[in-house]
Amino acid sequence: MTRHFLKDDDLSPAEQAEVLDLADAMKKDPYGYRPFEGNKTVAVLFDKPSTRTRVSFAVGIAELGGVPLIIDGGTSQMGRGEPIEDTARVLERHVEAIVWRTGGQERIAAMASAARVPVVNALTDEYHPCQILADLQTVRENFGRTAGLTLTYLGDGANNMAHSYLLGGATAGMHVRVAAPAGYHPDPAILARAAEVAQVTGGSVTVLEDAAVAAHEAHVIATDTWVSMGQEGKEERVAALMPYQVNSALMARAADDAIVLHCLPAYRDYEITAEVLDGPASLVWDQAENRRHAQKALLQWLWSR
Ligand code: CP
Ligand code: NVA
Repeated sequence: MTRHFLKDDDLSPAEQAEVLDLADAMKKDPYGYRPFEGNKTVAVLFDKPSTRTRVSFAVGIAELGGVPLIIDGGTSQMGRGEPIEDTARVLERHVEAIVWRTGGQERIAAMASAARVPVVNALTDEYHPCQILADLQTVRENFGRTAGLTLTYLGDGANNMAHSYLLGGATAGMHVRVAAPAGYHPDPAILARAAEVAQVTGGSVTVLEDAAVAAHEAHVIATDTWVSMGQEGKEERVAALMPYQVNSALMARAADDAIVLHCLPAYRDYEITAEVLDGPASLVWDQAENRRHAQKALLQWLWSR
């Protein structure tokens, strides 16, 4: 059975740990793993803008011995209405895996339903699971573990990063707190699923409206843009989310050795102050680098099933 990675809990806790171990090994030996040797090709499609995802997949696939085929979704026939399933049936005849950044989760689910090669979610409106693998790798590099640590995410609790922190963090045995105002809370179904996973791993998931309480003694403070790709109403969102800004007063509430994560792009002095983003607790550049290592590990792992 072809394995896909459409959302964070598509990897079991043991499988997620296997991928993260492989990511660490690949980081130490970037050219030592060559599953795609011989010019095997991986398609990487974008329906939304990207810097990190595009570069980290392209370079990572090359390091795995393969050829990245980067496609702008709007210029494909999907942009003119060709069914997603037909696109999958064509792509699978040519490539070893399909990586896709798109809108609704149902789109990537449709791609996976028709593809006999692994399909990887490179961000949808609902999830950003490749990012969370890189974030977990960064957490492990810093603390030596994920299980039992508290990760507090502040800001838009209803976006892809919040959902993936809940699901991926719970899979990693973390205590995930989401701090967000009413109207910006996570999808209840995703929260319930994350709680189910946390029960198995010894983690937990909590939604709070008080940012200071949520940050208390947290090991990881994370945030994301307040206006995700495709969203509107910036002024209203900024007004609602300003109390959840990651700044030095908030950091003073976290554990002394707390680290700061942001998937980037960051909007300084909105969701995070320049002082914190560019300060000593911030590991955002390691996090951005780890995208490549984590995704290489994921591709090799899925492809070799
Ligand atoms: N964090 C992230 O996915 O960045 P890009 O949008 O630049 O790919
Ligand atoms: N939540 C953001 C993440 C960007 C990498 C967005 O979807 O735009």
